[in-house]
Order: sequence, then structure tokens, then C-alpha cells
Amino acid sequence: MGWIVPPPKEPVKSREELAKEREEKVRWLMRHGYLRSYLIKEAMLKVQREDFIPVLYRDYAYLEVPLPLPGEQATISCPHSYPLFYEALGLNKGQKFLEIGLGSGYGTALAREIVGPGGLVVSIEIDPLTFAFACNNLKKRGYSDIILVQGDGGLGYRQKSPYDSICITASCTQIPPPLIKQLASGGRLIAPVVEEGIQNLVLVKKDRNHINREIVCQVLYVPLRGRYGTGHSAS
Ligand SMILES: C[S@@+](CC[C@H](N)C(=O)[O-])C[C@H]1O[C@@H](n2cnc3c(N)ncnc32)[C@H](O)[C@@H]1O
Repeated sequence: MGWIVPPPKEPVKSREELAKEREEKVRWLMRHGYLRSYLIKEAMLKVQREDFIPVLYRDYAYLEVPLPLPGEQATISCPHSYPLFYEALGLNKGQKFLEIGLGSGYGTALAREIVGPGGLVVSIEIDPLTFAFACNNLKKRGYSDIILVQGDGGLGYRQKSPYDSICITASCTQIPPPLIKQLASGGRLIAPVVEEGIQNLVLVKKDRNHINREIVCQVLYVPLRGRYGTGHSAS
């Protein structure tokens, strides 16, 4: 199983065409049950996904396929994966959110819109090229109040912990223990976990010292690097 990425090409679509595709995508996500909450819907309508995609892939912004980014094995995930993760997390206004795998910065911008001015977003990216790409995208769109960190996200970011929601956007064989530690009591963490050769999207709910774990569905993500990296190759 793998993704078929369309070939790079010069963009020809206008802003208006892409805006229509964005609205149609949001309707599609709602029809298919991925998108339910008002805040996530408003964020997906507002954030222009095409601004987070390398120019030669821009016309494919609303296709259900991950697209390549500068850096080693970095991709912007397919559109449906954002509501899939954020609805399960219960991402909401005022929350403190930690993302492992900044990628393009698109998911980070959505999260910033969802948690609003009373919340906080921290995102960590291990690849320096990908990190620079995302920082530039976010800066150009005016997102200046997100904590962006270049480093190993498996170690988390203790300075702003505990977090209400943590999202790992790369596949791991175990959920990095520092991230469980940095999750607030009552908080949720979501991650693609490699189990018996497949990737399960796992939702973890922490309640005081009790950890509850459930499988949401099967997914396909690039591997986590760093101290808690999988070492397996991406498909
Ligand atoms: C599927 S992409 C992220 C997509 C991103 N959320 C977006 O909206 O574009 C996964 C990202 O995780 C990054 N990554 C892998 N291992 C990491 C680690 N240990 N710490 C931080 N980032 C990591 C990869 O470099 C890649 O950019």
C-alpha cells in the first residue's frame, strides 16, 4: 500500500478556483463524517492550504494525497487527516496544543485558528529544511504567535507542558514516553503507531495516572525520526 503522488507542474489554478475547491473539500469532509465541529470547519475554510505547498504541487492542494515538502521524507498530509486527528483529540478553544512534525505548517495554522487567542500552539520539526519552509509559510500568512522549535519532537517541549492535546504526525513503534508525561490529566494524544506491520491511528486518553488507549483506524505516515524513531522506511 502506498500513495500515488501526481507529477510536479507549473500551477495554473486561480485563487478563486482554489477557494471553490476548498469549500467543496469542506463539504466533502462533512459528508464523509471526518469533519463535525464548527471550529475545525471554520479553520479549514479560512486557512488556504495552497499557501503551504511547494509551488509545483500547488494545484493539487485539495486532492486526497500527501504531497512532498523540502526535507527528508517530509510530506503535507492529505486534507482528511487533519479533521481525523483534531476531531478525535477534541481540539477546542483555549487549549494548549503540541504538534510533533510541523511539516508544511498547515496543520499548525489550523490548530492556531481552532484554539484561538486564549490557547497556545507549539510545534516541533526535526528536519532543518522542512522547518525553514514551514516557518516561512507561517510568517507569510501572519502567524507570529506560535512556538516553533527545530529539534527532536519525541522529547517534547517541557517548558510549556502540560498539554491538553498532543498530535504526532509521523509513525512510531511506541509513543515516546516524554510525550505521555507532558500530557495533562484529562488530555488526549493521537499518533500513528506501527503494530504488526500496519499503522494504527491510536488515541490515548490520560486520566490522572491511568492511560486509556483506543484504535481509531489504519493510516499511512512517514516514520518518526530521532531518539524514538522507527527506523522503518516510508511507503
Ligand atoms: C506527515 S509530515 C507532517 C505534516 C504536517 N503536519 C503538515 O501539516 O504539513 C511528518 C513530519 O514529521 C517530521 N518528523 C519526523 N520525525 C520527527 C521528530 N522526531 N521530531 C519532529 N519532527 C519529526 C518529518 O520531518 C515531517 O515533516
